[in-house]
Amino acid sequence: MKTQVGIVGAGPAGLFLAHLLGRAGIAAVILEARSREDVEGTIRAGVLEQWVVDLLRELGLAGRLERLADFHRGISLQWNGQRFHLDMYDLTGGKQVTVYPQHEVLRDLIAGLLDRGGTLLFEAKVEALEDLTGPTPRLRFRHGGAEEILECDFIVGADGFHGPSRQAIPAALRRELHKTYPFGWLGILTEAPRSWHELIYANQAGGFALLSTRTPEIQRLYIQCDPHDDLANWPDERIWAELDSRLALEGWTLHKGPIFQKGIIPLRSFVCETMHYGRLFLAGDAAHIVPPTGAKGLNLAVADVKVLARALIAHYHEQDDSRLARYDATCLKRIWKGERFSWYMTTMLHRNAAETEFERRIHLADLDYVRSSRAAATALAENYVGLPFEDDA
Ligand code: FAD
Ligand code: DHB
Repeated sequence: MKTQVGIVGAGPAGLFLAHLLGRAGIAAVILEARSREDVEGTIRAGVLEQWVVDLLRELGLAGRLERLADFHRGISLQWNGQRFHLDMYDLTGGKQVTVYPQHEVLRDLIAGLLDRGGTLLFEAKVEALEDLTGPTPRLRFRHGGAEEILECDFIVGADGFHGPSRQAIPAALRRELHKTYPFGWLGILTEAPRSWHELIYANQAGGFALLSTRTPEIQRLYIQCDPHDDLANWPDERIWAELDSRLALEGWTLHKGPIFQKGIIPLRSFVCETMHYGRLFLAGDAAHIVPPTGAKGLNLAVADVKVLARALIAHYHEQDDSRLARYDATCLKRIWKGERFSWYMTTMLHRNAAETEFERRIHLADLDYVRSSRAAATALAENYVGLPFEDDA
């Protein structure tokens, strides 16, 4: 098999890239290790930045989003027994918070790609990335029990944090920076009516909690927990008791229902600043991870491929490789701002036993600053709904 751009992974990064290239007449093949059902059924992110929504509209893929997404004016922040509405719509000149789950975005992108004749192989696991510094790099993959080879002009590693692409860059050349946090998130889906008109990020005694939504009948909630904790320690009654206490507000009740999905994720920050090696380019979680508190992971993944698509179009249509050469530098400016914002939201909103009482007071002052200053509120809001792009990508 041969193509112009071989993409490893059908997550948000790989799928958006295939659409952006396809629209410009550039051939791409996506190889995805998992089945379509698995990809479309995995519960992950929930919030889209305004420009990602606009991009889905521009690609003609927003039909279901317009019907199913929730559009909020802002978010609520809760601490010390008060709930504060941060009106992002007002603070950012009309940008909204769009709650539309990642697996629905993936369903729309996959259906759209297959409809317009794009090539996307499921259950096609890439086992090796070869000849990355030569003119024709190759992907060796397993599909339907046989080993196959895809020859490409370029390879894009959009295979998430655990995929093989980043490891294909020699370790001595990779500049990697990490931070781990001493907490994780326990996420649940419950069949219950909505309890509030927007997301609530709460920092109260006992720790962080986040109230989000999926549909009028299904709600998504998260609570801070030990990252090494076992789900067996979290029977439904304990989850509801913690949520009740962390989201408690006088005169307000949390609606409860059967919990039908539970999972624990660790929180980490990670950046591999080497996003480009020969003809391999990394995009999305393959190159960087943020803790989920700022709702940035999916959005940063799409931002990378917006820049990369523009650079590949310049290569094929304008014989200009300068954008490919500065791909890492262009992306890293946005990535580090996303890392900063996610770290800021995470440290401000979680309880960390390793911190001193002094540091706790600083986080509470930060929250009170956002409440009392339009400048501070605007800084939070413009990051949350998505910073403008500096490049003309
Ligand atoms: P992925 O989505 O990880 O896709 C990579 C794909 O590559 C996968 O489908 C994988 O199967 C495939 N793959 C891996 N190895 C191979 C191989 N060898 N061969 C072929 N295919 C391979 N982000 C937000 O923006 N907003 C949020 O509100 C938010 N909330 C989150 C909540 C939770 C609980 C979690 C877990 C994450 C959240 N995120 C959020 C983060 C977001 O889900 C990720 O950042 C996003 O999925 C990254 O997209 P990606 O395309 O880079 O990688
Ligand atoms: C959701 C996830 C997040 O990380 C976040 O900050 C907001 C919402 C969600 O899954 O709905």
